[in-house]
Amino acid sequence: MEIASKTAENTDNLSPNKKTIPVRAENITKQYGGGSFTAVDNISFELKENQITCFVGPSGCGKTVTLRLIAGLEYPTYGMLTVYGKQIMGPGPDRGMIFQAYTSFPWLNALDNVAYGLKIMGVPKAQREEKAREFLKLVHLEKFENYIPRDMSGGMKQRVAIARTLAQNPELLLMDEPFGALDAQVRWEMQEMMIEIIERDKKTVVTVTHDIGEAIYLADRIIFFTRQPGKIKADIELEFKGGKRFLMKEDLICHPGYAEMEARLFAMMREEIHGKQIEESGG
Ligand SMILES: Nc1ncnc2c1ncn2[C@@H]1O[C@H](COP(=O)(O)OP(=O)(O)O)[C@@H](O)[C@H]1O
Ligand SMILES: [Mg+2]
Repeated sequence: MEIASKTAENTDNLSPNKKTIPVRAENITKQYGGGSFTAVDNISFELKENQITCFVGPSGCGKTVTLRLIAGLEYPTYGMLTVYGKQIMGPGPDRGMIFQAYTSFPWLNALDNVAYGLKIMGVPKAQREEKAREFLKLVHLEKFENYIPRDMSGGMKQRVAIARTLAQNPELLLMDEPFGALDAQVRWEMQEMMIEIIERDKKTVVTVTHDIGEAIYLADRIIFFTRQPGKIKADIELEFKGGKRFLMKEDLICHPGYAEMEARLFAMMREEIHGKQIEESGG
């Protein structure tokens, strides 16, 4: 089953705000230890509206740091980083973040966990519960609204975290290895669910993974990082998908071009793990 993805061409009916670039990183460097350690080294990219971009690279290459910079949880040491044309000054409701560790409140049931962010935003009880139910249904948890996290599986807890983030309607969805702690079967179910949700809500997404299969399945575009210090090794539009997204993983795996893409990314990963510095394309 495949679905035609919305392209970025139809910009006529977008608000002026939407016409600006979701995220623009200009010569971003992030150092720690007073400059003694460079985690991210002079990277530049622009993200496109409604695109799913996946940061890929070996452990420690700066994927999480870059995502945290976009989230406004950290600031670049050098360079300019903007969201919808504005310099990032901290976290904001325009960006929703999903982490690998399930971030639900243990004493709240699923419904209240999803409604929590809306409560903070001042949404009245009846309205926020209606919204929370809508998003619980979207993550296929409509029958579990009274469950507390202790009685849920890892996959269910992560669905609650996803529903809570989406219920706040961020324009940008930032996910850091969101399915990394889940077993293989739950992971692909969650990946397929994410495609369904992103298609429905037309989100601009940045997701981080070191799982090549997950990257090819989810991404419209892959930004591949070099091993420390993190630079952009390659910036790849997954053109072989023909602008489509696939609801079922096996359909994508059988699609012409999949095997070549997988082999290319494995070779790049191997290069980075073994420390070679071969620049492919992009800057
Ligand atoms: N707050 C910090 N202080 C010092 N070093 C850090 C900090 N955060 C990340 N780093 C280092 O920056 C590098 C990139 O980290 P990270 O972005 O988490 O890697 P990954 O690509 O695996 O997500 C790592 O070497 C990490 O140890
Ligand atoms: Mg990480």
